[in-house]
Amino acid sequence: MAGAQEETGGPLRKLAVGPQIGEDALARIGAIAPALPVVRVTDDWSVLADVDALWPGIDTPSGDTLLRLAPRLRWLQAFGAGVERWLTPAFVQRDIVLTNASGIHGVQIAEHTLSLLLAFARGLPALVRGQHAPLHHPRLGQFELAGQTLAIIGFGRIGEALAARAAALGLTVIGVRRRHQGALPAGVTRLAGLAALPQVLAVADHVVSVLPLTPQTRGFFDAGRFARFKPGSHFYNVGRGASVDHAALARALADGRIAGAGLDVTDPEPLPPDHPLRRLPNVLLTAHTAGASPHYQSRALAIALDNLSRFQAGQPLVNVVDKRAGY
Ligand SMILES: NC(=O)c1ccc[n+]([C@@H]2O[C@H](COP(=O)([O-])OP(=O)(O)OC[C@H]3O[C@@H](n4cnc5c(N)ncnc54)[C@H](OP(=O)(O)O)[C@@H]3O)[C@@H](O)[C@H]2O)c1
Repeated sequence: MAGAQEETGGPLRKLAVGPQIGEDALARIGAIAPALPVVRVTDDWSVLADVDALWPGIDTPSGDTLLRLAPRLRWLQAFGAGVERWLTPAFVQRDIVLTNASGIHGVQIAEHTLSLLLAFARGLPALVRGQHAPLHHPRLGQFELAGQTLAIIGFGRIGEALAARAAALGLTVIGVRRRHQGALPAGVTRLAGLAALPQVLAVADHVVSVLPLTPQTRGFFDAGRFARFKPGSHFYNVGRGASVDHAALARALADGRIAGAGLDVTDPEPLPPDHPLRRLPNVLLTAHTAGASPHYQSRALAIALDNLSRFQAGQPLVNVVDKRAGY
């Protein structure tokens, strides 16, 4: 639920930053808050003892461990969109503002997802395998995306970027989210709530999950939901792996109910070498790379610096996570 705003109160006393913050970024922090001490988080977590703000790196401790290490924490600026690793019950209760980087992934995850749709449409998995064994004019069941229907489940910032691009390819786009009233975003034919999910799954040729991982979305795509899919449809997950029951997905793929799956995220990551999903020819696994972009850090840093200015000026922050909702 990034985008909400919240009062924070009082300038910061000390900021800790992860290794993604280079010298240039430190200079920009100094320009905004010249008197603010900034420390780097290293393997020595004791530097967190007196900080009240943290821009964590990938390896920075999370959840209750972080609460123990940083008892004075007031603001945590995540450099990703998914924030489930911090949201223990104790963290949710504490008066810590959690902000994220939702909004910086739209372009690259939309392009990544479309590359998966296009790969299935053009038979690329078999053709790429065929580079190592002679194939000539094989019948691969190619199809056209134009005229087909795409359902985006968990329709937020990434969903918006995907919808606009998918519509340009001639797909009819349906978005599913909790709050589905109001104006239709660009490229979307219909916005629906969860009550309409069975009908949406029944008509979609492609179902993309961009759900955040919350108590409501863990195991969301289970055998019951896969049974509602249109026969021969394709499934994609670029949200979080644990929102999918992978054993149920493997069964739906093996019995042909679902024609193919493109999974950027899985549970666990990576999948074990002998996992059934690794052996199915109609599965594309992309190793949690959909968010990668040369512009990632600069976009995330822009949000963090904007929020730093706001914090110091006592203004509401942007991209505030609703800790109870989990996103
Ligand atoms: N693969 C990757 O590398 C990668 C990179 C970035 C993000 N992600 C994942 O993608 C997720 C979404 O990112 P985003 O920036 O698009 O976030 P976002 O703008 O917050 O969008 C999330 C959307 O999910 C909807 N939602 C939440 N719970 C739901 C439920 N139970 N049923 C239906 N819809 C629900 C929300 O609906 P409402 O608006 O109605 O509340 C919201 O619109 C992140 O949380 C993260 O887990 C993955």
